[in-house]
Amino acid sequence: MIDTLNFSSAEIERLRSETPGTRNRVHLNNAGAALMPSRVVNAVTEYLNREAEIGGYEAKAECTDQLERVYESVARLIGAAPGEIALAENATVAWQWAFYAQSFKPGDRILTTTAEYAANYLAYLQVAKRTGAVVEVIPDGSDGLLDPDALDRMIDERTRLIAITWVPTNGGLVNPAHAVGKVARRHGVPYLLDACQAVGQMPVDVEAIGCDLLAATGRKFLRGPRGTGFLYIRRALLEQTEPAMIDMFGAEWAGGDQYVLRPDARRFETWESDYAARAGLGAAIDYALEIGLDRIQHRSRGLAARLRSGLATLNGVTVYDLGADPAAIVTFGVEGRKGSEIVGALAGQGINVSLSRPTSTPIDSTKRALPALVRASPHYYNTDDEIDRAVEVVAKASRSAANSA
Ligand SMILES: Cc1ncc(COP(=O)(O)O)c(C=O)c1O
Repeated sequence: MIDTLNFSSAEIERLRSETPGTRNRVHLNNAGAALMPSRVVNAVTEYLNREAEIGGYEAKAECTDQLERVYESVARLIGAAPGEIALAENATVAWQWAFYAQSFKPGDRILTTTAEYAANYLAYLQVAKRTGAVVEVIPDGSDGLLDPDALDRMIDERTRLIAITWVPTNGGLVNPAHAVGKVARRHGVPYLLDACQAVGQMPVDVEAIGCDLLAATGRKFLRGPRGTGFLYIRRALLEQTEPAMIDMFGAEWAGGDQYVLRPDARRFETWESDYAARAGLGAAIDYALEIGLDRIQHRSRGLAARLRSGLATLNGVTVYDLGADPAAIVTFGVEGRKGSEIVGALAGQGINVSLSRPTSTPIDSTKRALPALVRASPHYYNTDDEIDRAVEVVAKASRSAANSA
């Protein structure tokens, strides 16, 4: 039987030739910002050139259909309807649109997860301070993943929101987003999912997940331009949701003290946008859909697994990822070396990784007493050889740490 998930070496070669950055670097920083394919770069520059040639407003008018199709692409990517999508400049803004549109009163409970992203957690603290709502962390199972049964037992009539991160910024953990959706549905509690590190590296289907709100970014595993992101809001919730802030794009003055909100999710957006970046986001999503998200997940997880097992053979190296089937984010540390030194050693060999600081995931970092971790995040366009080169550099660094101890 042909394994349809596998990529042939000819396909990898083609994908790499369509990714100019692979000529210069071993890019293992896709959880930071992935390398854009040429098609994405071309979509951005062609749009920008058109603005320069005929004028910004005129280019927008000329490219209306193309820009509309970006909503359709996002919707196809996550199994939603275009009217349920708002485009944002990043995931944080999209998430804030969703969160700050919810209302809370004293004693209302916001349930979140250990792996929650710092920006989200700070927003909970601010809203808790303003409204008297309380923030509670859903217990984890022995595997370190959020425990959906524990969530089920926590829910009562004061539970106002379940808001979790699917794949965190600091490791390969994949929270059981679908099981959380079942619990949220059963209890009728709104469910906000941070899918920032998930989109582009795995299939996402909002119906199957059962989330009501989902926020994501364009520049990470989706391989879009920086400064792009989107919000999904389920139609039934959208109809009852007023954005925390509006302008004359999201709403229309209806005379006197009246205004009418747009009927679709674009009620969250504002009048001015980076249309060139949006064109790039659309191209990136179409590219990912053409390749296939199940195939992308298979290969990127396979490369991450190769990296983890290579690192696991090295003395003095600790891998920190939790869960039985982690995503393509590998975090590790080397005894006797700061994370920043390892990032520097890899950069010296043309290998891009990043540093995941404890402040980016405050609950998890406190619970596990995490140091600053080296984060290597491969994508499907990386190769076994690149992974092995990275392991070799870490091996050298760990040997020299041991010798100088
Ligand atoms: C889990 C998670 N959520 C949200 C964000 C924020 O995304 P953005 O920088 O696009 O606002 C990040 C960024 O690293 C992230 O890792």
